[in-house]
Amino acid sequence: MLDICGISKTFNAGTINEKHALTNVSLHLNEGDFVTVIGGNGAGKSTLLNAVAGVWPVDGGSISIGGVDVTALPSTSAPAISAEFFKTR
Ligand SMILES: Nc1ncnc2c1ncn2[C@@H]1O[C@H](COP(=O)(O)OP(=O)(O)O)[C@@H](O)[C@H]1O
Ligand SMILES: [Mg+2]
Repeated sequence: MLDICGISKTFNAGTINEKHALTNVSLHLNEGDFVTVIGGNGAGKSTLLNAVAGVWPVDGGSISIGGVDVTALPSTSAPAISAEFFKTR
């Protein structure tokens, strides 16, 4: 139901504050899966969740929720689709 395929996210690209928060990250979860994301401070945990929530667009890769590609949707749409998906299950 959640397919994260090779997503990347760089903050402040091309500046002295450039941060590669996510580089080619993939995660495939089925309904009922239970996952704990572990990593040190600054590892990219929040960035990963924010990407799924559609807080801002990722730089590359794709994200699907319940078979719906939410990668290119505006920030308001991905949470709505996500909420709709969970509501119906
Ligand atoms: N909005 C942002 N602007 C600039 N850099 C950010 C932003 N959000 C996160 N980062 C940077 O991206 C990296 C990953 O951060 P984050 O996802 O918050 O890590 P975690 O949640 O694992 O502690 C860190 O280097 C952090 O400083
Ligand atoms: Mg965090």
